[in-house]
Amino acid sequence: MIKRCLFPVAGYGTRFLPATKAVAKEMLPILTKPLIQYGVEEAIEAGCKTMAMVTSKHKKAIEDHFDTHSDIENSIKGTSKEELVKDLNRIIDNIDFTFIRQKSMRGLGDAILTGKPLIGDEPFAVILPDDLCFNDGDGVLKQMVELYNRYRCSIVAIMEVPKEMTNRYGIIDGKYLDNRDDLIKVTNMVEKPDPQDAPSNLSIIGRYILTPDIFDIISDIKPGIGGEIQITDALMQQAKEGKVLAYKFKGKRFDCGQVDGFVEATNFFYEKIRRD
Ligand code: UTP
Repeated sequence: MIKRCLFPVAGYGTRFLPATKAVAKEMLPILTKPLIQYGVEEAIEAGCKTMAMVTSKHKKAIEDHFDTHSDIENSIKGTSKEELVKDLNRIIDNIDFTFIRQKSMRGLGDAILTGKPLIGDEPFAVILPDDLCFNDGDGVLKQMVELYNRYRCSIVAIMEVPKEMTNRYGIIDGKYLDNRDDLIKVTNMVEKPDPQDAPSNLSIIGRYILTPDIFDIISDIKPGIGGEIQITDALMQQAKEGKVLAYKFKGKRFDCGQVDGFVEATNFFYEKIRRD
């Protein structure tokens, strides 16, 4: 069972300045719901009971979002607006939230290592909430948890990207597994390669299942591209032992860490509520 989901959300969100100067990127809303809540809902659907957040001193609003607010509760009590916070209140009542602060922004790998005290010695999920995923059937993380239950190793979600965009993402290479066209045993991973150096056009997105040995591996990793501790470097160590799978998930993914993806997600969810 994957019981805990880690949310590394300490980053500055500089691509969204000035909006992210005083407001956490993860609190930017797609319609009326902040990105972080979409991520939490996906983790709950996948069976996670604890949301472990790696934050920073600038991200207090995330903690506040998942806590009660008696002034608002009192002011909308008995009105139709109670409906607007019903889903959120159900989350607050049933799910544990734990928080730890990353001291300096040393990259995603370092943020994941910072979360170790919140996770312990068990496999866990990771969601980067600025990658917003949607599927009509099972959510992306739920699909991955089902795979984990069968294969018991680290899993990364991947999607095809245009070859000229490989320098924005972690790119994998490997061999298709078990006669499936959606599951690959990873043999190579490169962080943000130039198109001519990219081993494929299969990009890692912000959904992972990691086995806990990843923490010791990250501890030994030297800073990579951009002076940051890269999770791809740590995963590559596991991949060398044949312990990383890449999964072409079913569903859509919106890159809400940049304006185009954010607008696309807004339009998609707006059309969806008009249809439903
Ligand atoms: P990104 O690079 O996409 O996010 O990191 P960012 O740094 O917030 O945004 P830009 O590039 O400045 O616009 C991917 C994820 O890793 C987290 C981020 O919060 C985001 O969820 N992260 C990154 C950390 O928690 N700590 C870090 O040191 C770096």
